[in-house]
Amino acid sequence: MNRKERYTVITGASRGLGRALAVEAAEKGRNLILAALPGEHIDEIADGLSSKFHIVAMGIEVDLTDEQDLRSFTKVIVENYEVDMLINNAGIGGTNFFESASTAYIDNIIQLNMRALVYLTHQLLPVLKRQKRAYILNIASLAAFGPMPFKTIYPASKAFVASFSKGLNAELRDTNVSVSVAYPGGMATNPEIIARLRNYNKLIRSTFLSPRTTARICFRQTLAGNTVIVPGFANKINRFLIKLIPEQIRLIIFSRNLQMEMTVKLA
Ligand SMILES: NC(=O)c1ccc[n+]([C@@H]2O[C@H](COP(=O)([O-])OP(=O)(O)OC[C@H]3O[C@@H](n4cnc5c(N)ncnc54)[C@H](OP(=O)(O)O)[C@@H]3O)[C@@H](O)[C@H]2O)c1
Repeated sequence: MNRKERYTVITGASRGLGRALAVEAAEKGRNLILAALPGEHIDEIADGLSSKFHIVAMGIEVDLTDEQDLRSFTKVIVENYEVDMLINNAGIGGTNFFESASTAYIDNIIQLNMRALVYLTHQLLPVLKRQKRAYILNIASLAAFGPMPFKTIYPASKAFVASFSKGLNAELRDTNVSVSVAYPGGMATNPEIIARLRNYNKLIRSTFLSPRTTARICFRQTLAGNTVIVPGFANKINRFLIKLIPEQIRLIIFSRNLQMEMTVKLA
């Protein structure tokens, strides 16, 4: 390893938005440390990007919800690499009755969406601070803008990501590190999400951005030092509507739509 080489760390880079962000970073000539769950061939993805874009890229298998795994992964990076960009992308959610959800399901969302993100940010901050300029991009969701029945933990976890990111950005205002938070809307990424998004009508579906377009916007705005990123015009309108419609009415609308989504899922 060349000590002068700088790396971009991206979690959840085996597919979906994380993979699109990895391609975007590689195109910009950034060296990569990509993380994904074991068995997802993250090393092959890294090798592919490395030869196509002539960068240094490595894939690391890690379960970010596993305390020991998370610690070892972070330690390897902190002790061996210079990082000037951290992208906390890995995140999960789902639609479920809270009461019948297993504790493992609930813990997974909490551990991945919040704990792993905070831990990685905390541990990598000293590394980021010793660079000339450094960036943190945390992926939230439009869901962060309000509560949702039958999803409950997911929007709450994303509201946490948003609040944490904005607070930390203000705390780091006089440093070389900027923190951005992105609020993507629906994206056709994994098969489960694609099936879920199919339930929406044509008009709503037409507002969904591809992971590639979302990644491009997020990347550009992160490098510009923007704190809040709402990718795409339609998502900006959605955000506006979320703010405009009283919460009680939104909850009724979500309740109806998400119950329908679950009925389709269970059918
Ligand atoms: N898709 C949407 O509509 C949408 C909308 C708004 C916000 N978002 C947010 O955007 C981000 C990416 O979403 P996506 O739809 O691209 O997700 P995705 O297709 O499900 O990909 C998730 C990524 O996270 C990794 N991952 C999951 N659990 C992990 C764990 N325990 N340890 C390490 N890596 C793990 C997955 O690795 P494996 O491949 O190994 O499982 C995969 O690389 C998430 O934070 C999500 O909440 C998505």
